[in-house]
Amino acid sequence: MITIDVNHKSCKHDGKCVEVCPMQILTMNEKERVPEFIPGGGDICINCGHCFAVCPPGCISLSTMNAADAMVLDRSHLPNSDQVEFFLKGRRSIRKYTDEPVTKESIEKLLDISRYAPSGINRQPVNWSVILGQANVHALGEQVTSWMESLLNVNAPMAASFRFERIVESWKKGEDRICRGATALVIAYGLKDDPMVPQSCTIAATYLELAAFGLGLGACWAGYVGMAINMSDDVRKATGISSRATAGAVMMLGHSKYKYSRIPLRNSSRIIWK
Ligand SMILES: Cc1cc2nc3c(=O)[nH]c(=O)nc-3n(C[C@H](O)[C@H](O)[C@H](O)COP(=O)(O)O)c2cc1C
Repeated sequence: MITIDVNHKSCKHDGKCVEVCPMQILTMNEKERVPEFIPGGGDICINCGHCFAVCPPGCISLSTMNAADAMVLDRSHLPNSDQVEFFLKGRRSIRKYTDEPVTKESIEKLLDISRYAPSGINRQPVNWSVILGQANVHALGEQVTSWMESLLNVNAPMAASFRFERIVESWKKGEDRICRGATALVIAYGLKDDPMVPQSCTIAATYLELAAFGLGLGACWAGYVGMAINMSDDVRKATGISSRATAGAVMMLGHSKYKYSRIPLRNSSRIIWK
């Protein structure tokens, strides 16, 4: 159960916290006009912290988050709309990396940012497995290649549809089309029986990919690795992920060998306006 603690002296009695609560479990108490949980509210609170975050004087603390520990959202630190557009359109999937390793500290920073990705009912169900170092990433790529070969050997339709033959051939020639020579690999995973996991992993990994661009690192989805983790026990075990879990997203990381000079064109949006 979550409990709420309100600083009665600094409360402005504006009711913003009550209005923004997605669960509608806050009410202004009759006597002092300060927020409190409706009966049983603390049991169904999803711990999203919106009441805590919307309060200008920061007078709400929850048993799970103390107002004094919160980062103040200084709006002058936010990029403007042109900067956001440029940033989002300017991100590219990076597939050519230098040998410079990505530090553990940089990955910790990316994972810290990714914790703020939205997740269904704020369950935050995403866990991470990190493969550090080019040699370790390459070794995992080798295992993914063996898995691809095992599917090719039994003529699995999937092997043909994803053209595994070409990928395996390239690998044998020393070309890595699986992890692209990345110096780290980050896997977002969660419990198989949690329906929120696939989308939450996708969004968290997307945050990570964008945060990597912001930090000057290169990133790219590693779709084949994700497939292999979910279909091969050997590959899954190599990542340390339990058999009760599913990999929702895998991201390559590294220092980009090249800088892109322009933004490629994309299809126009297909929209139904009603
Ligand atoms: C689910 C998913 C899986 C992907 N898997 C791979 C992959 O295994 N290898 C790769 O080089 N790129 C992979 N990509 C990257 C896409 O090819 C890339 O996003 C697309 O070509 C557009 O380029 P951009 O990201 O630079 O805009 C994947 C992207 C997504 C969303």
